[in-house]
This record gives sequence, C-alpha cells and structure tokens, in this order.
Amino acid sequence: MEFFDHPRLWHGADYNPEQWRQDPAVLEEDIRLMKQAGITIVSVGIFSWSDLEPTEGVCDFGWLDEVMDRLAAAGIRAALATPSAAPPPWMAVRYPEILRADERGLRRRYGVRQQHCLTSPLYREKTAAFNRRLAERYKDHPALALWHVSNEYGGECFCPRCQAEFRRWLKDRYGGIGELNAAWWGSFWSHRYSDFEEISAPSPVGENLVSGQNLDWKRFVSDCHIAFFDNEIAPLRELTPQIPVTANLMNTYPGIDYQKFARHMDIVSWDNYPTWHRGDNAVVAQQTAFIHDIYRGLRDGQPFLVMESTPSQVNWHGVNKLQRPGVLRLSALQGLAHGSDSMQYFQWRKGRGSHEKYHGAVVDHVGHPHTRVFREVSEVGAVLARMQSLAGTGKESPAALIYDWENEWAIRGMNGFNNERRTYQPVCERYHAPLWRAGISTICIGEEQDFTPYRLLVAPMLYMLKDGVAKRLAEYVAAGGNLVLTYMSGMTDSHDLCFRGGFPGEGLRQVCGVWAEETDALYEEDRQSVTFGGVSYPVRRSCDLLHAEGAQVLAAYDRDFYAGTPAVTCNRYGRGRAWYVGFDDDGAFTSAFMEELIRELDLPRPLPGPIPYGVSVQQRGERIFLLNFLDSPARLPLPAAYTDELTGGRVEGEAQLPPYGAMVLI
Ligand code: GLA
Ligand code: ZN
Repeated sequence: MEFFDHPRLWHGADYNPEQWRQDPAVLEEDIRLMKQAGITIVSVGIFSWSDLEPTEGVCDFGWLDEVMDRLAAAGIRAALATPSAAPPPWMAVRYPEILRADERGLRRRYGVRQQHCLTSPLYREKTAAFNRRLAERYKDHPALALWHVSNEYGGECFCPRCQAEFRRWLKDRYGGIGELNAAWWGSFWSHRYSDFEEISAPSPVGENLVSGQNLDWKRFVSDCHIAFFDNEIAPLRELTPQIPVTANLMNTYPGIDYQKFARHMDIVSWDNYPTWHRGDNAVVAQQTAFIHDIYRGLRDGQPFLVMESTPSQVNWHGVNKLQRPGVLRLSALQGLAHGSDSMQYFQWRKGRGSHEKYHGAVVDHVGHPHTRVFREVSEVGAVLARMQSLAGTGKESPAALIYDWENEWAIRGMNGFNNERRTYQPVCERYHAPLWRAGISTICIGEEQDFTPYRLLVAPMLYMLKDGVAKRLAEYVAAGGNLVLTYMSGMTDSHDLCFRGGFPGEGLRQVCGVWAEETDALYEEDRQSVTFGGVSYPVRRSCDLLHAEGAQVLAAYDRDFYAGTPAVTCNRYGRGRAWYVGFDDDGAFTSAFMEELIRELDLPRPLPGPIPYGVSVQQRGERIFLLNFLDSPARLPLPAAYTDELTGGRVEGEAQLPPYGAMVLI
C-alpha cells in the first residue's frame, strides 16, 4: 500500500468546502493557507452527502472534483470520507425505516448525525452504492491517500428489525435455546426461554438485569457496527485495494469493541480532545498517554493517526478553555512520542452557522492567518516536516497493560461489592501512571493479544476471563513473565458466569498462590490501610481478603476484623512471578508498588535520572521526547550529549524545558 510503503507524518484537518460553495474565493484562499500552515492531508466529504446527492439519484460531484483537483495540484492529499454518518434529509423522510429507534422503541426523526438503524438493509445498500460511486470516481485521483469511513461510529438501535437480528445473532452464537439458557443462567427469576422469539433487547421497561444478556447485546451492537463498516468498505476494497482504510474512533468509547473493530481496518485513528488546563495538566497528559497507548495496542504496535484534535478550544465542554501557547505543539509531540503518525485537526475553517461555528479551527472567522492559533498550527507543520523520518517507525514497550473492552462491559454490568464506585478505566490509569512517569513505554492490549513480548504484564481488574486467557497467563508467567493482578480478578467467564473453586479462578489461584475468600466494600468514610515497605497507605472502595497459598505476603491489612490478612502478595510460578494486589487505592500505594517493581525488574528507561513531575519522557526508535506539561520550567539531567531535533541545537548535561516546552533528543 502506497501509504505504508512510503510512510509519512501527516499534518491535517477536517475540511468542509461544501459549506463555502457560494463563495469560490474561499477554496482558493484555503489551499493557499493550507500550504502556508504545512497541511499535507485533509479529510473531505465527511458530511457532504446532501451536497453530493441533493435529491435522490441526482448527483453533483462537480464541486468535490474541483476540491480534489486543487488539492492534488497543491500537493495536498485527501482522506476521502464516506458520508454515512449523516444521510441527506430526503432519504430519512422518504425512507424512515433507515432511522434508529430508542430503547423504548420510539423511532427517531431526521436530525443530528449517526442517526441510522444499524441493520437497515436499505441504508446498507444506499451507503455501499454511494461509496462505490465515490471509489469509481476518485480511484485514480492523485489526491486520494486514505479512506475515512463515516465519522465516529456509535450508538445503538432498538427497532423491531434490530431486535430480530439480535435473536438471529443469538441463534448463531448458541445454536440451541438450551445453550442460551445455560449461558444466561436462565432459571434465575424464571427466565428460562423456550424459544429465541421470546427474547428482546435489554430495555429500561423490560429485562435489564441479566448480565449474560446485557453482554451479548453489547457484542451484538458492536458486531452490527463492524458489519456495517465491512459493508461500507467492500466497494472500496474492490476498487481501490491500494488505499488504506480507517475509521475515526473515540477514546475508549464503550459501544464498540475497538479491539475487534481495529482488525477490520488498515490503520486506526482517533479523535483526541484532552481537557488541558482542567486541574492538573500532568494528570490530563497521563490520561491522554494512556489512550495513545491503547491506540498503539489496537493493531499490535502499528502506528496510528490522530485524526482530530482542536487547534484551540472545543465548543462542547462545559467550559471551553483555550489551549495555552505551546500546548498544541506539546499535544502533537505527545502523539508522535506514543506512536502516532499524524496530527490532524477538527476543523480547518470555522463555519458561519449552526452547531460548531465557535469550535476551534485553524482559520478563524477573521479569515486571515495572522492569529496565534494559525501561527501555532504552522509551527506544528514545520515540526512534522522536520521529523518525517519518524513516520512508520515502531516503539519498543517493555511493559504491557491489559485494558479489555469486553472486560469493561462485564465490570460495568455486574452488581455486587462496591456498586457506587467501581470503575475499570481509572484503575488501569492508576497502574499506567507510574510507568508513564518513569518514562517506561507501556502498550495497552486486549485479553486476546499476545502477552509474550513483554517483561511486565499488568492486568488490573481482570474480572472476566475469556476462553483460554487464564491458560495463556499461566504460560506467560511459567516462562518467566512478570504478571500483576489486582482485586476482582478471574471471577467470571465470557458469559459472566462465576468460576467455581475459588477466586481468582481458572488456575490463576495457583499462578498467584492466593485465594480471595471474600471481598469487602468500603464506604467513602471508611478507613483501612496497608503497610508496605514500612509506609502506611490508605485502602479504598474494595478489598479482597486473601489467603496466601504459597505466595509471599508483601503487605497485610491494618484494621478491622481482617487486620493481618494478606493484602499484597508475590508468588513464584515456574520461571516467573505473579503479584496480587487485593485492593483499590487512590494512587499512593499503586505508585509506590509500581515504582518498586520497576526498580526490581530494572525495566529499560530512556533516561536514567529522575524525571520532574509533569514531564513526560518517551522513546520512539532513536528519539527521546521530553515534554513539559506544566506551566513552570523543568530541568532533567542527561547522561550524554544529544541534538534537539526541534531546534537543531546541542544539549548536554541538563535539559532545560520552559513552561509547556519540549525537546526531541537524538
Ligand atoms: C467529533 C466529530 C467532529 C466534530 C468534533 C468537535 O470528534 O468527529 O465532526 O464534531 O467532534 O470536537
Ligand atoms: Zn434498527
């Protein structure tokens, strides 16, 4: 694929020239300004269906031809979008069956976006037919670089057809109703179905407490999106096999199993909107790093794209703060440091009307380039141009963290222990943070991905074990791996059916050398603590009461009837070790524990010296990125002499980073 044979760092934006067709001078000016800002790719056609097919069957591609031609002439490439995210009004009015129904069965009216039924054969036919037209028309166009499929797939549909499809999906999965009843623990509350036809989607006015059913509905909805995507890309694959395909994804959006979805595309991309300057920027930076590490993991370390980000502010936060000078560049470099091959914006130019007219853009309403934002964007363009040799390169990760979509569904859906405060992602972030602060590259992967390349594997709250996962974990440890599990691990299988024989189940009890007999839930005002390395750390929300069955006890609970009961353990298993942390905390213990582990395992770090708070040190290939996310200067000792790729200057002895400053050392 051309895109991959000649990898590039892209600098881009969502471009909506259809909003400016009445003023042709704008297109000309846009292209001129894009060149000036170092833009190399624009996403076009995302919301263009009603401009491309204003009435049924009557198409007007003339304006898009001109846009594509002008882009090509200027050497700017197109991420050409398929328009399925927003059908034209005539379609929804003429064929209301393409619209979604909500959980109570109420059919939507035309409006907003991502409004289509996920299984409508008519909408699938219309989108595939339109995509075929696009591909036929632009397949040899020199501007075409990438397919941008739809926009932020999401949501669900509860129409009668989707419900029928759900039943068909269940039949495929289970074969017989008996198998389904077994998987859903059907005799509970008299829920033994006699026929698939009796089953509905989960609903607030019907069944919503059967965890196996809820999980299957989520899997079904996710599969619908993926099938919709496959249907969209079939003509693209057929007519433009050389053009890579992506869909822009949203953080850890729970509605689609991105770990599954990613396998259907050539490159993953995501829309990155951190809430910079809300509270502690170092925390925002760490949370953003975690998401980047997820996107790098989605396709086993392959580079990804940052398809959207704001050049200044968004319009949909409660408070839409401006990014402080320098933060845009910092944000772009952070993406590159974690494996992105692009920095792209929403949006190129602010529209005059409707919902997003005050959303940040490269070109503001003032219309000229003499703005702070345009200058900062241009600077990013220059940085990307200078760093082209980074494109397509991988990133070594000595550590991996399991963040698994289905596990998230299961944790969110179960009832028990601490229902008020049980969250998966923040716990994963708490274990990721100390690695990030130490500059240790960590890749986030799903349960089904390969564990073997990593020295350290951290699997917080690995509650639901899919088939074969426990065995693979045991093999990983036996072969010399280092595994960290926490409270609420190994409790259920992929139907959310509890394992028998003691938690953590499926043989992990032997791997960890512990049995978690009970799990206590703590009120916010409850006090519990553990003493670890001579320091007392607060315990919060949830704690497993452990029996050491061969494991070494590293810490015990301090209070209550289970004072003295093991809380943190380490077990030798084969040639490796497995740690079990029995409780949740607010980060103090997690940090101390992980820092100790990093020391003990001597995980490779890009720089040996201490890293000041708020500074991120990340290595990608030969480059070491130093990023200061705080509004105060920072200094780092350096073990050798380097060149700062951003300035070409020599750096030796110490790196001095101004507020929001950055260096790329080579
Ligand atoms: C999303 C969408 C864009 C735009 C931005 C605004 O990411 O994909 O079309 O609405 O949000 O931040
Ligand atoms: Zn539907």
